[in-house]
Order: sequence, then structure tokens, then C-alpha cells
Amino acid sequence: MPSIISQPVAARLTHSAIFLVVTLKPDPRCNQSVRALCADMASLLRAIGFRHPERRLSCVMGFGSEAWDRLFGSPRPAALHAFREIEGVHHAVSTPGDLLFHIRATAMDLCFELATQIMSRIGDVVTVMDETHGFKYFDERDLLGFVDGTENPVDQDALDATVVGDEDQDFAGGSYVVVQKYLHDLKAWNTVPIERQEAIIGRKKLSDIELEDAVKTSYAHNVLTSIEENGTQLTIVRDNMPFGEVGKGEYGTYFIGYARSPARIEQMLTNMFVGKPPGNYDRLLDFSKAVTGTLFFAPSATFLADVSAENAPASQAVVR
Ligand code: HEM
Repeated sequence: MPSIISQPVAARLTHSAIFLVVTLKPDPRCNQSVRALCADMASLLRAIGFRHPERRLSCVMGFGSEAWDRLFGSPRPAALHAFREIEGVHHAVSTPGDLLFHIRATAMDLCFELATQIMSRIGDVVTVMDETHGFKYFDERDLLGFVDGTENPVDQDALDATVVGDEDQDFAGGSYVVVQKYLHDLKAWNTVPIERQEAIIGRKKLSDIELEDAVKTSYAHNVLTSIEENGTQLTIVRDNMPFGEVGKGEYGTYFIGYARSPARIEQMLTNMFVGKPPGNYDRLLDFSKAVTGTLFFAPSATFLADVSAENAPASQAVVR
């Protein structure tokens, strides 16, 4: 029985990334061009990545809810919907996005080349909503100065957290992805005493050691984003990246979270933006504004390879 291969959602963190979010134009050629690209993604990656395998080029391609219907029709991933904005103490906006390309490598040249090749294929039929070039900052730190990514699950735990299984058999091997682009008020953040910053994140700034439960605040970022179901922790895989433009005074974190269900990311966001209990919100948001927010489904690589310019693949329900 053929096995399903996932896209590299839980790939090791890299030093460079391009996050490309585009919308589809009404142009009737659009569906065909995008579907043809789906089927060719693997060979594009081979052609560019083969020359420098040690730079670990990878790309995850995701589809927004409306784009899914337009490109592939039925069946559709059970939990795919447009990103729901959250009006809490802070505001998580919902912004347009039909396709996501999460391009990663240890060096920007390969990311840039792949993004260029993708746009040469579909540039005429899409509008770019956002293109962010992310980099790693010193020892895996975000621009707030904290090490970011430490508690990510790895290996089998990462796959268990991110890859859809029997709960949606037609789309087993796929994954849900939420992206949010955050801009930091670094001037204000840098006036906050280190101990207070550590209380906000829930970890020591220099050593990255987690604060002991006895001293953690109830609104620490790592408290509000630790969620459970029936006593089991529900995890996600994050690959946040710093980005910025010093000339513009722009300093940010591009949040990207993968999960086998969008509900767990949504629960974390509610805890952060509304608070748990309501009002006990994530103080990180007093210094970080979400300017985008979009949900995508990244189907398996097997699904993508089976797409043809004319047709979506038949349901993979029989494949286990
Ligand atoms: C401004 C944006 C954000 C920044 C700068 C940020 C930064 C951090 C840092 C420094 C940590 C501690 C180290 C680590 O375990 O990675 C962390 C942990 C975490 N963050 Fe974020 N984060 C951001 C947004 C988000 C969002 C939007 C979510 C989920 C919707 C999220 C989910 C998590 C989770 C699940 C953990 C691990 C908690 C634990 O188990 O200890 N983060 N984040």
C-alpha cells in the first residue's frame, strides 16, 4: 500500500527563511498555473537544493480556506477555515492569504532562488500580500533578546504534534499552519528591567533556563501557551524568525506554528490575547503588535505530487 509522505513541516530549524503569502487573482489561468506548480514543487526543490544538500533547502506550501475550494474543491480538510480574528485585550487581526510558501535553508541564497523560481511560475496570477525574509539572531534569539524555540517538540514528538492522522483520513499526512507577523516596540521593551522581561516570558534571558513554577507569573508567555487536554499537553511546532529594517525602525518576529489541529493554536492565541482567565493576558503583546494573521492547510507532499494542471487528486481515503 503506498505510504503518505508529509511536507517537511517539522524540519530542523534553519538560519534563513522566506515567508511568502500571496492571494490568487480572478484570472482564469490562475488555477491551472498554481496546480501545475504544486506537482512541480518537488522537482524545483531538487533542482535548486541538489547543488548544496548541506544547506537543507525545504519548502512547505499551504493553502487558505477559500483557495482550497477554488483549487481542489471537495473533499476539504476537516478543520480548515479562515483565520478568526480575536478581539481581546489586544487584537489578533485576520489578513488575506491564499497560498503560503515557507522556504527554509541554512543560507539565504537558496531561499531566494526558490522564491524567484516560484514567482516566475505564478507571479502573473497572484498578488503578494507579504514577503518576509527571516534570519537567526545570535544563539537562536528573537529581537527581544530571548532564545526562541527551546521547548519545541522534536523527532517523533514533533510529527505527533503536527501531522494529521486518523482523525481526518482523507488528509492524513497534512498539517495546519498559522502565521502572524509581529512588530516589536523595542524602545519600550528595552526600558523594561530584565527581571520583569523574564517574568513576561517565563524564562531567564541570558541562560534560557525556565523559571521555577513557584516564581512564574500566571500570565507568563510559556504559562499561557502551555495547554492540555485530558491531562495531556497539546504541543505545536514553531519556527519563529526575527526580521527587520533598521532604517525604518522595524523590528519583528514572524510567528509560524504547525499543528495537527488549528484548535490548539487558536486556544493558545485566545489565552494570549484575551487572557486566562479573561484579562490575564500575555504582556508580550504590550510590546508586540500582530499585523497579519492567516491560517493555511499544508497537504502531504504525496497529495501535491498527484495534483495535475487540470485536476485535483482524487481523495486519498484509501491510503493508510
Ligand atoms: C511576538 C511573538 C512571539 C515571541 C517573541 C515568542 C517568543 C517565545 C519565547 C522566547 C519562548 C520561550 C522559549 C521557547 O520555548 O521557545 C516561547 C515559547 C512558546 N511560545 Fe512563543 N512567542 C511569540 C508568539 C507565540 C504565539 C503566537 C504562540 C502560539 C499561538 C506561541 C507559542 C509558544 C509556545 C507553545 C511556547 C512553549 C511554551 C512551553 O511549553 O514552555 N508563541 N515563545
